[in-house]
Amino acid sequence: MLLLIAAAFFDVAWAANVLAPNISACNEPIGLPYAEKNYRCCAPVPSYVPRLFRPVAPSVGDNIRVRRTSHSADEKYASDLARAYSLMKELPPEDPRSFVQQANIHCAYCNSVYSQMNSSERFQAHHSWLFFPFHRWYLYFHERILANLLGDDTFSLTFWNYDHPNSTNIPWLYSAALSPYPDLCTAIRDASIDHPNSTAALDYGSDTGARPRDIQLSENENAIEGHGYLLCGSE
Ligand SMILES: *[C@@H]1O[C@H](CO)[C@@H](O)[C@H](O)[C@H]1NC(C)=O
Ligand SMILES: *[C@@H]1O[C@H](CO)[C@@H](O)[C@H](O)[C@H]1NC(C)=O
Ligand SMILES: *[C@@H]1O[C@H](CO)[C@@H](O)[C@H](O)[C@H]1NC(C)=O
Ligand SMILES: *[C@@H]1O[C@H](CO)[C@@H](O)[C@H](O)[C@H]1NC(C)=O
Repeated sequence: MLLLIAAAFFDVAWAANVLAPNISACNEPIGLPYAEKNYRCCAPVPSYVPRLFRPVAPSVGDNIRVRRTSHSADEKYASDLARAYSLMKELPPEDPRSFVQQANIHCAYCNSVYSQMNSSERFQAHHSWLFFPFHRWYLYFHERILANLLGDDTFSLTFWNYDHPNSTNIPWLYSAALSPYPDLCTAIRDASIDHPNSTAALDYGSDTGARPRDIQLSENENAIEGHGYLLCGSE
């Protein structure tokens, strides 16, 4: 999530209007992550009129879900999360809750798959005001699916409090170097980034060759404030 936010600063289409996606106009994805083979990730056209979703306000007595920081996650939490992803990966690929379909959703809305309505421009949920609403609903349902697979309605995702000095590296449960759970980490990630003592480069996407920690932290602050683009932008 964080890397996506940071990446979004670097090729912002300033003030571009974004029209709704035309889900009947499905194209090949553009700009899939490094090393990923191109594939068609369009969702099946629904046989029903999509319903407007509104979160239900909590009532007294409801279970409160607490989102903890990733760095403070304990072994119990990490093993539950790993089990949830393992269950998600065991679902048949065509199941809308499956890991494959969860990945397809990000591909479809974030890799320029759909055309915009009445336009040949592609729809992309990054680089505009849509970034936060899209990822909020995506993560909302993703979290609910994980909770449902675990049979634990109180289950929640953690968040990366990357601006705390103790939390500037990849959270341990997602680090291939530290996590005992292959379902939570990827061996594809550059080992120098995954390293437990590496300061994550929040200005990801610009020239982020290895920097001394104090300089990287200062660049991270710039990126968090949205100034990263102005300092390092390539436009
Ligand atoms: C697309 O264009 C048609 C014809 O001009 C118009 O009726 C329709 O409202 C437009 N749809 C969108 C989503 O802009
Ligand atoms: C949506 O895409 C389909 C298929 O390309 C096309 O026929 C239709 O005119 C498009 N609708 C709009 C509103 O752009
Ligand atoms: C940050 O790390 C220091 C040194 O290990 C520790 O004393 C402190 O409690 C940590 N703070 C947080 C908020 O994790
Ligand atoms: C991380 O850095 C600390 C302090 O320099 C060091 O003690 C520790 O061994 C390092 N951990 C790894 C896995 O490199």
